[in-house]
Amino acid sequence: MTELELIIDLHKNSERQGPGSEGDTLKALEILNLNTDKNFKTADIGCGSGGQTISLAKNLKGQIIAVDLFPEFLNELHEKAKKLGLDDKILTLEKSMDALPFHKEELDLIWSEGAIYNIGFENGLKKWKDYLKKGGFLVVSEITWITPSRPNEIEEFWNVEYPEIDTAAHKIKQLENNGYTLVGYFYLNQDSWVKNYYQPMQERFKDFLKRNNNSGTARKVVEDHQAEIDLYQKFKDYYSYGFYIARKNE
Ligand SMILES: C[S@@+](CC[C@H](N)C(=O)[O-])C[C@H]1O[C@@H](n2cnc3c(N)ncnc32)[C@H](O)[C@@H]1O
Repeated sequence: MTELELIIDLHKNSERQGPGSEGDTLKALEILNLNTDKNFKTADIGCGSGGQTISLAKNLKGQIIAVDLFPEFLNELHEKAKKLGLDDKILTLEKSMDALPFHKEELDLIWSEGAIYNIGFENGLKKWKDYLKKGGFLVVSEITWITPSRPNEIEEFWNVEYPEIDTAAHKIKQLENNGYTLVGYFYLNQDSWVKNYYQPMQERFKDFLKRNNNSGTARKVVEDHQAEIDLYQKFKDYYSYGFYIARKNE
């Protein structure tokens, strides 16, 4: 297996593919305070195996189109949705988030947890805006500095990994400059990273290595993920995922 295939293998049998929790999804929904009906259309972009998609389907009326690049994650979501009797509400779509097939002003809500970074925050805001109805909503979680300054080591790491990392004030400005109005903001607490994402991942390391014959590439995948966890433990007071809840201007 290639390194990418192994990364998918490590992540696919999990609740979530990134930091977050049902509580965070529900908190953002509560801030939105939506009144939905059967015609309400939501896209969940970069849905992974759909931890948040299921919460959305349980709490919103209408259709949810769950988009991801990788069929392995979408198949898992489809199976989960079937078991819960939610498969008539959740349509899975294998597409890249930078080439979506939606029409102009087709969607009432765009949701994307921990995924917009794949095409860059500001690029995503611009690209996806056309698909939203006027007055429609955009909810994204995105890596964010939570203090005004931080140690060089972590600053340099993120400036290489994802130079668009910034403070919430800067990201809110980007939303405003691109035709959105902020409705609400909060950032994930440490449990959403550790208890919901890193600990379950660490518990999967052993089986993952075993089923992949302890190959050099599989060991590298584990080491890289462990390094990410170590970095988080060391610098968790300086960054998190910010949840940005915004409305497209009329
Ligand atoms: C960090 S995971 C977050 C998954 C899920 N939203 C969650 O919070 O558990 C990022 C997701 O984006 C997907 N992804 C990466 N590049 C993509 C692209 N170009 N188009 C659509 N999805 C993509 C990945 O497959 C993965 O499921």
